[in-house]
Order: sequence, then C-alpha cells, then structure tokens
Amino acid sequence: MERPRVFITRLIAQEALDMIAQVTEMEVWPEELPPSYDVLVEKARGVDGLLTLLTDRIDLALMEAAPKLKVISNLAVGYDNIDVPEATRRGIVVGNTPEVLTETTADLAFALLMAAARRVVEADNYTGKGRWKTWGPMVLLGQDIHHATLGIVGLGRIGAEVAKRARGFNMKVLYYDQVRRSEEEERQLGVEYVSEPMKLLSSADFITVHVPLLPQTHHLIGAAEFATMKPTAVFINTSRGPVVDQKALYEALKFGQIFAAAIDVTEVEPISPDDPLLTLDNLIITPHIGSASFATRRNMALMAAENLLAGLRGEIPPNCVNPEALTG
Ligand code: DGY
Repeated sequence: MERPRVFITRLIAQEALDMIAQVTEMEVWPEELPPSYDVLVEKARGVDGLLTLLTDRIDLALMEAAPKLKVISNLAVGYDNIDVPEATRRGIVVGNTPEVLTETTADLAFALLMAAARRVVEADNYTGKGRWKTWGPMVLLGQDIHHATLGIVGLGRIGAEVAKRARGFNMKVLYYDQVRRSEEEERQLGVEYVSEPMKLLSSADFITVHVPLLPQTHHLIGAAEFATMKPTAVFINTSRGPVVDQKALYEALKFGQIFAAAIDVTEVEPISPDDPLLTLDNLIITPHIGSASFATRRNMALMAAENLLAGLRGEIPPNCVNPEALTG
C-alpha cells in the first residue's frame, strides 16, 4: 500500500520526525526561515498531511491546491494562521498542541512581568555600557511585585497558571474573561472576577493578556485601554501581537501613561528593526519564545506528530480543533 505523503515546514525534534518517517513519505523543510507562501503551496500539492508552524499561512488557496490534504497539524496551541472553517468544509482535520506548553508560557509571562517591573534588561545594559559608577539611592528604581494587584485578561489555561505564580508573590489577582469561572475554581486559584474590563485595567498594577487572536480580540488593548491604566502600571503580552494596538502601546510608554511593558509577540513578526518600539528603554521585546524550553518544544513536536498520524489514518487527532470536519 502506498505510504501517505507529508510535508513538515521546519526541523522539529528528531523523535517526532522518526515517528512520522516510520509510516509516511516525509519531506522536511530544512531552512531556518519558513518556506515562502508560494513554496508552501507547491509543497502542499499532492500531500496527505502538513505539519505547520504559526508562521505558515494555510488559507483557502493553499487548500484548493492540495486536494488530497486530510490533516493539518499545527505545532502551537494557537491556530490563527489556519483558515479552520475552510478546512472543516473540506473535511480536513486541524490539530494543535494545548496543555504541554501552558506552564512554560506562564513562566515566561511571569519572567517578563518581573523583568519589566524591576528593569532587569535596562539594568543589564546599564552595567554592560559601563554606566555603573556607584550604588545610587535613586538609580534604576522599579515597581514592587509582591503585594501588588495583577489583572489577568483571559483566564484560560495559561492565565490560570499565571494566577498561581502570582499567589507565591502575595499578589491580589483580578481577572476578566467572557466566561466566569465557578466560585470553587475562583477560590482554588485565589482570583476575583471583575465584570468590567476597564475597571480591571484601572485597578491593576500589572496587566497580563492571555486571549486567542480572533476578530473580536484584534486591538483589544488600544489607546483607550492604556489611558485607563495607572501611570505606574506594567503591561505584559505573551498571547498574539495583534491583540494589542502597537502604536497605542508606543504612545503609552513614550508619554508615561504606563510605567513599562514586556511583550513576547508583535503585530508583525519579526518586528521591523526600524520599529519605534525598539527605541524605548521601558519596553522589553522577546521573539515569541513563550513555549521555548527544551522539554516543551519536544513535547509539542511529539503531540503534533501524533495529531498528524491520527489524521492520516482518518481518525480525529487527539488534540483537534475541528472534530466536526469528520463527524459532520
Ligand atoms: C502557541 O503555541 O500558540 C505559541 O504562541 C507558540 O508556542
């Protein structure tokens, strides 16, 4: 029997590649940079499965060019790079990698929160540039984390893990989400629901965003939201860049509407080297590394491989965002 053909858009953990190679004819894109859209469309022609990253746009035109495609396995929990409704219409299952990256991403959100509050990156640059002349009582002062109020926008899996970390710092934790958690969950997580997002933004010392990118969450945080925050506030985004209006973020940081920010995602990735955000001392930008630990990236790759292989067998992948593609 002919083995299914798959295209994998980047090198991933060898164990995952070995699993896939056992049962498929596999091609792996070997470069550091992703294949261009046109190359991706060419590669997708005639394959039964794709293993993709969030940098790969999988849209209607691509699916049109790939009539044999049965499964798209995305190596990420987010899947805003894929036209899922179109995949569903075509009976193509889409897999993602939830859970395995939750705590790793929450760790990074908390690391960014601490680094921005205490100006860790700025202080390291200060030392590196030879500006450390003495112990100065007014040098590089930041915001206290302990006993401060954290506002979480979006209390899903990652938001909840951030809440747990905050408790270790004796923080008061407020949250806003479209869906309120049960009283029991709120008690266990030690979080307090705020029904008005603006109220959360105005009362928190730290604000961290954990929502998926959807039409409704595009520019969820913009000029009005930054204007509502305290001038001492620290803002964190590890979700998706377009959730934040980056121009508004620049103004808020430049003109002291908020104290500092740290973001792991930008509206366009990678951010342009000319972007004015890169001129700000009170902003830390990391290159979308939320899930980037050795263990987590391995687990994501294994999960993506399992999703891919299940989809090739005509089954609903263990982590599938559109099971209705097969169940109708
Ligand atoms: C995701 O999984 O969606 C992250 O952004 C990358 O780990």
